[in-house]
Amino acid sequence: MNILMVCLGNICRSPTAHGVLQKKLNDKGLDWVKVDSAGTAAYHVGKLPDARAIAAAKARGYDLTSLRARQVNNDDFFKFDYIFAMDHQNLIDLKKRQPDESQAKVVMAMSFSQIGVIEVPDPYYGGGEGFDEVLDICERMSDDIIRKVIQESTL
Ligand code: 4NP
Repeated sequence: MNILMVCLGNICRSPTAHGVLQKKLNDKGLDWVKVDSAGTAAYHVGKLPDARAIAAAKARGYDLTSLRARQVNNDDFFKFDYIFAMDHQNLIDLKKRQPDESQAKVVMAMSFSQIGVIEVPDPYYGGGEGFDEVLDICERMSDDIIRKVIQESTL
């Protein structure tokens, strides 16, 4: 199974979601699931995640330093089984780009979590606490994706 996490810049939310889900998969030995992340925009292509995202993740044991930003491309819609959008605008942008004949399921990343949070809020223009909130949400999101998408696919 191939999973792609998508936000706008691929330097704050989607690399955090990528790093958190990757660590949880590693810890559970779910090595048949591959994770990647990308942005709908190209502003930060080639860059490391935002330093604030790296620091907040490191404090919880997640290493984001091997990640580099890239933009979503046409092949992604054929390669990935699930493309998870962090917010509604990301979802709209992804659906506009999705080729008709591609099979990827393009859905909100939080669709499998019932905690009243539907979007992962963009922390880019705010303070450091926004990155902790993103981590809280990504931890819950990853647990729910593992349980409801990955483990249920093997039943
Ligand atoms: P992300 O955050 O979509 O979570 O990576 C942002 C990063 C950069 C910008 C906006 C949001 N920007 O405008 O450059």
